[in-house]
Amino acid sequence: MYEGIIHKYRKYLPVTEKTPVISLNEGNTPLIRAGYLSSLMGRGFEVYLKFEGSNPTGSFKDRGMTMAISKAREEGSAAVMCASTGNTSASAAAYAACAGIKCIVLIPSGAIALGKLSQALIHGAVVLAVDGNFDAALELVREITARYPITLVNSLNPYRIEGQKSAAFEICDSLGASPDFQVMPVGNAGNITAYWKGYKEYRQAGIIKTLPRMLGFQAAGSAPIVLGRPVKNPKTIATAIRIGNPASWKQAEAAREESGGLIDMVSDREILDAYKLLAAKEGVFAEPASAASVAGLLKLKKSRYFSRQAGSNVGGIPSKTGKKPARIVCILTGHGLKDPDRAIKSVREPKIVKPDLKVILKEIGY
Ligand code: F0G
Repeated sequence: MYEGIIHKYRKYLPVTEKTPVISLNEGNTPLIRAGYLSSLMGRGFEVYLKFEGSNPTGSFKDRGMTMAISKAREEGSAAVMCASTGNTSASAAAYAACAGIKCIVLIPSGAIALGKLSQALIHGAVVLAVDGNFDAALELVREITARYPITLVNSLNPYRIEGQKSAAFEICDSLGASPDFQVMPVGNAGNITAYWKGYKEYRQAGIIKTLPRMLGFQAAGSAPIVLGRPVKNPKTIATAIRIGNPASWKQAEAAREESGGLIDMVSDREILDAYKLLAAKEGVFAEPASAASVAGLLKLKKSRYFSRQAGSNVGGIPSKTGKKPARIVCILTGHGLKDPDRAIKSVREPKIVKPDLKVILKEIGY
């Protein structure tokens, strides 16, 4: 029986026999071969989607939260706290409920998706909507957790990063090697930090021989790392990554530099197009922030980035080297059902018809 990432990857994680494992069997998410995107990319490329929406609370946050809450419990903590654009709070609330620990969350008022808010509330967290953005909420959480006996469970908590690195292990285990490129959204920058750590540890352990290029994408209205300065009033429809001053900024830059990758931005239009393409062509419903990875992939294809990599020693672009296709993994960080409002706004609403056979047959073209 599969029992979650701590059980599976114990030897790579800072846990002992004394650590009480708080798990909802997170991880083991599907790596889906993306047929449509692979054909769009053309010969020599295979695109895969790591669908983190199939974690127990619907996002990748569960990988880090099983570690953070297990360690909080081990240390005897009575309360945990986070600031969140939604997914962290949903995950913290669920794992804290499972552990019997109090959970307090600060969210930017009016700026988180409905599904995420419902999760934090139903799991019994104390939810405060702050009249300010994520960055302001995180600042307050840092101050409060430094002064009071409350454990911070944002990705500044190193156990979060430790748990999240398990996704890199899973990708390598599925492919039997490192991918050549990994494309992912970047918000507070904890996840890119975690993946890079995971890949480096797997290489250190001799399980993979190469490392992927890390290609991170921010939303254009919330792109501090791309611009090289904090953004005071971050904007984007991808509320999960509406962050103007990422906590793991330096680590994200290190992942970019060390991997020979890049951090770029995509517009809301590009995000929405990718969001709809994923749903309509691949059958995968991911939330808008997640679609930033596929938007990034398409942007890089348009700029001929991948074909320009052909001469480099990364991957095996076959036209020049005769090797296997280059493998590109796009991380889909959260489930589309988190934000049903956005889905409905992005398509035509159903037409209301009379309950009449003739009318319906006419409508469906028979
Ligand atoms: N995708 C989704 C769906 C997210 O919820 C987040 C972050 C990211 C991408 C970016 O990951 O912050 O590690 O760079 N959500 C956080 C939250 C900030 O509070 O739920 P990151």
